[in-house]
Amino acid sequence: MAVDKRACVVVLGDVGRSPRMQYHALSLAKEGYSVDIVGYSGSAPHSDLLFSPKISFHYMNPPPSFISIFPQFITYFLKTLWQTWFLVWTLFWISKPNFYLVQNPPSIPTLPVCWFIARVNRTQLAIDWHNYGYTIMGLTLGPSHLLTRFSHFIEAFFGRFAGINMCVTKAMSQDLQKNWGVCATTLYDRPAEIFRPVSLSEKHELFLKLGKDYHEFSSSRPDDTLLTERFADGQVRLRLDRPGLLVSSTSWTEDEDFSILLDALDEYELNRSVNSSDYPPLLCVITGKGPLKNYYGKLIQAKEWQHVEICTPWLEPEDYPKLIASADLGVSLHTSSSGLDLPMKIVDMFGCGLPVCAVGYDCLKELVTDGKNGMIFKTAGDLADKLLAWFHGFPQNNEENRQLYRRQLEVYQSLRWHSEWCKVALPLLSPTN
Ligand SMILES: *[C@@H]1O[C@H](CO)[C@@H](O)[C@H](O)[C@H]1NC(C)=O
Ligand SMILES: *[C@@H]1O[C@H](CO)[C@@H](O)[C@H](O)[C@H]1NC(C)=O
Ligand SMILES: *[C@@H]1O[C@H](CO)[C@@H](O)[C@H](O)[C@H]1NC(C)=O
Repeated sequence: MAVDKRACVVVLGDVGRSPRMQYHALSLAKEGYSVDIVGYSGSAPHSDLLFSPKISFHYMNPPPSFISIFPQFITYFLKTLWQTWFLVWTLFWISKPNFYLVQNPPSIPTLPVCWFIARVNRTQLAIDWHNYGYTIMGLTLGPSHLLTRFSHFIEAFFGRFAGINMCVTKAMSQDLQKNWGVCATTLYDRPAEIFRPVSLSEKHELFLKLGKDYHEFSSSRPDDTLLTERFADGQVRLRLDRPGLLVSSTSWTEDEDFSILLDALDEYELNRSVNSSDYPPLLCVITGKGPLKNYYGKLIQAKEWQHVEICTPWLEPEDYPKLIASADLGVSLHTSSSGLDLPMKIVDMFGCGLPVCAVGYDCLKELVTDGKNGMIFKTAGDLADKLLAWFHGFPQNNEENRQLYRRQLEVYQSLRWHSEWCKVALPLLSPTN
C-alpha cells in the first residue's frame, strides 16, 4: 500500500462556494489522503477543511477586472491565458498526487490544463461532472455563439480523456454515455452532517442573533423573537402568532428567475389580505450573494406588502444550516442549464428535514417526489397555490399534513455524504485499496 496518498482537487472557482468539492476533499482526508485544493479564494470554506491538517489550500490570482474593458473575444482570450498560466504554475509546485480530481464546469482552461499536467506527470485524471460548461455559457451568449460552440468542442474533446468520471445524476450519466461515450458513475449529492434538524433552543438562539442585525426577526420583548419565546422556566416555545418562515438560497444568477417567487408572494399577499384568518403572514428569507442581487433588491424594495416580508441577510456559514432547519418550507428556483443537475440547496434542506417547493424540470424527480417530500411547480400562480395550501391554517391546523412530508424525509436524512462517497467514489479513485 502506498505510504503517501495524495489527491489534488481543482476547482476554477470560489472554493468556499463549491460545497461538493469541499466534501470530496473532506472525505479524501478522512480516508487518509493528503489533499491539495487549488482554486480561488472568496467565501470562507467550511471550517472542518480549514482546521484539517491533511488539507492545504493553494489559491490562484483571479484575472484582474480591468480586462473586461476589451471587446468580448479579447477579454475571453486574456482571461483564459491568465487562468491557464496560474493554474499550470500552481499545479507545478504541488507534489505529485495519485490523481487530479477536477470539477467541471468551468471546463476552460481546467480540462485541457489538467489533462496535460496529468499526462506529463503520469497521473490519473478524474472529472466530477456537475454540469456542462457550454450550457451555462449558452445562457448568457446564446447556444449558437462562437464561444459557446468552442466551449462545447473543448469540453467534449478533453472530457473523453479522463480515466475516472463521476457525475451528479443518472440523467447526466446517460447523457455523457450517449453523446460523448464517457462512462461516468453517478455520485448523488448528500447532505453533510451539519445539515440536520435543530432543537427549539437552537432556533431561539439563532433568531436572537439574527434579530440583532435584522429587525425582521426581533420582537418588542428583548428575550423573545418574532418566532419564538422563552418562558420564565427557561423553556423555549414557538409562538402561536408566528409567521410562516419560508427560506430560499440563491447565487442570484440568470438561471434562477426570482420574479417567480415575487409574483407568487404578490398573490399570497392578496389572498391573505382577504382571508387573513386562514393564512399566516410570511417571513421569506433569501440568502446568498451574486450578480443580480442588487437588481432584485430594488424590485423587493418596491413591494408594499402588509403580510409578507422579505429579508436577505448575510449569514455566517454555520448559521445557514440552522436557518434551514428552523424554517417551515424551502423554495428552490433552480432550473438547470443542461436539465441534468440537481440543486444542492434541496439536498441541504432535505438533510435538515425541510420539505421544499421546487420549480420542476426533467431530472428533478431523481430527488423530489411531488406530494411526498416536496411540491413541484411550473408557474408563479402554481407556486402561490402551493404556498396557500401549505400554510393554510398554519401553525395549528393542517399540521398533520406538513408532518407527513417531514416524515418522508427521515430515510433521506440518514444517508450522508461520506458513507455514500466511500461506497461510490473511493473504489473508483483508489482501485488498488
Ligand atoms: C510533476 O511531478 C513532480 C513531482 O513528482 C513535480 O515536481 C512537477 O512539478 C510536476 N510537474 C507538473 C507539470 O506539475
Ligand atoms: C377566501 O376564502 C373563501 C372560502 O374559504 C374562498 O372561497 C375565497 O376564494 C377566498 N378568497 C381569497 C381572495 O382568498
Ligand atoms: C386566492 O385569491 C384568488 C382571487 O384573488 C382566488 O381566485 C383564489 O381562489 C384564492 N385562493 C385560495 C386558495 O383561496
